[in-house]
Amino acid sequence: MKYHLVSGGCGFVGRNMVKRLYNTTEDTIIFIDNLSVGTHPSTWLDAPWRKKEGVMEVYGEDERLIFLHQDFRHFLRNVIDVPNFVRDNYAPDFERFSDVFHFAAIVGGRATIEGDPMKVALDLSIDAEFFYWVTRQKPDRVLYPSSSAAYPIDLQTEGDAIALAETDINFKKMGEPDMTYGWSKLTGEYLAKIAAEHYDLSVTCIRPFSGYGEDQDLTYPIPAIAARIARREDPVEVWGTGRQGRDFVHIDDVIDCILYAMDRVKDGSAINIGRGELLSFIEIIETLCDIEGYNPQIKQLLDKPVGVFSRYSNMDYVNNELGWTASISVREGMGRVLAAQKKAQGIG
Ligand SMILES: NC(=O)c1ccc[n+]([C@@H]2O[C@H](COP(=O)([O-])OP(=O)(O)OC[C@H]3O[C@@H](n4cnc5c(N)ncnc54)[C@H](O)[C@@H]3O)[C@@H](O)[C@H]2O)c1
Repeated sequence: MKYHLVSGGCGFVGRNMVKRLYNTTEDTIIFIDNLSVGTHPSTWLDAPWRKKEGVMEVYGEDERLIFLHQDFRHFLRNVIDVPNFVRDNYAPDFERFSDVFHFAAIVGGRATIEGDPMKVALDLSIDAEFFYWVTRQKPDRVLYPSSSAAYPIDLQTEGDAIALAETDINFKKMGEPDMTYGWSKLTGEYLAKIAAEHYDLSVTCIRPFSGYGEDQDLTYPIPAIAARIARREDPVEVWGTGRQGRDFVHIDDVIDCILYAMDRVKDGSAINIGRGELLSFIEIIETLCDIEGYNPQIKQLLDKPVGVFSRYSNMDYVNNELGWTASISVREGMGRVLAAQKKAQGIG
């Protein structure tokens, strides 16, 4: 029996990873979340509840899903002897974790990144304690999610935007990342490299661009815009001018790419996860409206935070060297989000 650990397992990426691991392996998945943002597993897990003991809840007929409702740092500080803890509590044959996915973080979309940067800076504390812990526990493999926000912002301006390639981050010649969020991700990448090189760990870093999906919360732009279009609002509001652009990649592709990359990238280096396609928010609205079949006015909300002008990936390395390409088109993915929003609102 293999045991995997997913921190932030009730957040957007975490819950998609928990479900994927549960549905595609026979392994046991231990996931931790303080539910500060994440949603309780009973709302998204398609597996029966079995038992609850203290902070631990067990799900699934075969009891392969173990949720710990607590701060990840509490776990890292207090459960330094993980084998004993896990063995004593629920898994007598436990020796060590196989794959450790670290998604616990304060993210929160543009409003949090710009509105409360010091709260986001707490990611530095979570990540530092995480990397200290993995170098003691030595799991088989570690996944660290960095972000496209780690890229220098001067490569993402209106006049000078380029498709961002992995080599545009160079620790010997640094640019300025996107606020405390970008700095913490960049620091996390540095710690990942140190963990791989100095502690002989298999570490994979990813830089997802704008991940989106059906079950993302409404503080993120794609579900928020889709919700407005599901209600056929006219005009449809967009933050800023709507000319700012991102590289949207569906969560199923993100999960696929993570699992693919973990078999191939082990030295702590980071790879992009995107489609390599820059789309403005106005183009996204047009796509969603086209699917929905109506043609509203667009109302710009110029007082809202918008971040950098253009952020999109150069996928040459991942597509051509690693051999992975995203498979869900923007139109298909947006259609799925729109359908989910209509269902949530009881429309259609
Ligand atoms: N979603 C994307 O497109 C995207 C893009 C780039 C990078 N990432 C990275 O992937 C990771 C996950 O992102 P997400 O979109 O799922 O965010 P999210 O906010 O949906 O999930 C983070 C989860 O961590 C939990 N959490 C926060 N602090 C915690 C703590 N101290 N202890 C335990 N749990 C805690 C939250 O409750 C939440 O469930 C983050 O590191 C993020 O930077 C995501």
